[in-house]
Amino acid sequence: MDITPFIRRRRRVLNEIGSEGVAVLFAAPEQRRSNDTEFSFRQDSYFHYLTGFGEPQSVLLLDGATQKSILFCRDKDELGEIWNGFRYGPEAACEVFGFDEAYSNSEWLHHLSQAMLNKKSLYALWGLYPERDREVMGKWHAVQQSAGRRIQANTYAPDNLADLAAVLDPMRLIKDEYETALLKKAGEISALAHIRAMQKTRAGISELQIEAEILHEFMRHGARFPSYNSIIAGGKNACCLHYVDNKDILRDGDLLLIDAGAEYGLYAGDITRTFPVNGKFNAAQKEVYEIVLAANEAAIAAVKPNADWGDIHLIALKILVQGLIDCKLLRGTVDGNIESQAYQRFYMHGLGHWVGLDVHDVGKRWHNGKPLLLQPGMCSTVEPGLYIAAADDIPEAFRNIGIRIEDNVLVTADGCENYTVAAPKSVADIEAVMRG
Ligand code: GLY
Ligand code: MN
Ligand code: MN
Repeated sequence: MDITPFIRRRRRVLNEIGSEGVAVLFAAPEQRRSNDTEFSFRQDSYFHYLTGFGEPQSVLLLDGATQKSILFCRDKDELGEIWNGFRYGPEAACEVFGFDEAYSNSEWLHHLSQAMLNKKSLYALWGLYPERDREVMGKWHAVQQSAGRRIQANTYAPDNLADLAAVLDPMRLIKDEYETALLKKAGEISALAHIRAMQKTRAGISELQIEAEILHEFMRHGARFPSYNSIIAGGKNACCLHYVDNKDILRDGDLLLIDAGAEYGLYAGDITRTFPVNGKFNAAQKEVYEIVLAANEAAIAAVKPNADWGDIHLIALKILVQGLIDCKLLRGTVDGNIESQAYQRFYMHGLGHWVGLDVHDVGKRWHNGKPLLLQPGMCSTVEPGLYIAAADDIPEAFRNIGIRIEDNVLVTADGCENYTVAAPKSVADIEAVMRG
């Protein structure tokens, strides 16, 4: 593993918190699944971003005064490793991951209390892990009290509990080259899985079988886990935005909406494709599909540096609303329906979100009440959709059509790069893949 990006990021944080700051952050907690069985461990995204170190029960301390990065991790343990696998131990972790110092994780609170002395600001990801907050706050109170008793000696403790996310989120928003390579690969693997799903789908099999095909393709390419629970939604299930039961039988004449993405090197892919179970769109399905596709393509074409995300949202929204009017699902004008928000009956989510270490990645989308202008290195989904639940006032042919088309795009110097372009999305391409 190339550790240079992690070292560079730690240096940048140390520089930002300055000589009067100290920062502490934690590995993700392990999660019990049942009795003595645990969920697979997934490192905390912030902790990974600054360390690349994948072990649980670890702590990172960044001391602005000494400009040192200090890791606390599990000790080597011969018997523990026979049962549960390799662990680095402080000495090897320090060497391999390029920390300035590393110690047993039993020592972190003691080092934190020392590092807090004569600092103005204590940075942490407050609220992320409340139990850790309590430990840090307990030590902070203790240090404040003992520093108070030593006022003569000019000893003081931080009086500013600062938000480390305010330092890290803007960094994570602009992806470096190391990250874009992983995001690209996550997008490519995710696209292969959607192609496989199109090839394997037929009436009479279950949504769960298609989920198995998706996971098979992810794993085959080195992505052990999906970046979120896969949505495999046939027919009316597509009108439930977060349908993850994946238990129904796929039916001839229905559409299948699949929202599934691979996590590769901890970076997320997030693709949605919608296609007919029997391989051929009917007239009403095609009509709605072409509207959503036009919105997806127009929005992606507008992604470039200094573009205003609010404008891109509006480009897609106008296409969707005009389409709904053309289908006679809405009455009146485009502007009137946008003003009244009547379209929200059929389109009730945003156009996209940042994607990175988290599938819904950190970073502001708005700044001072205005949408952020896109900058190279930002990576976003573009995912318009239309969801027409069955109701008495909906013509039969449109009932239970749920369509979303979602891609992952990186803002580049002169436009954008679509990492998920390999997943077919034109009617002709989808029908060809399903025939083939
Ligand atoms: N898969 C979650 C989303 O599209 O936001
Ligand atoms: Mn998605
Ligand atoms: Mn998404």
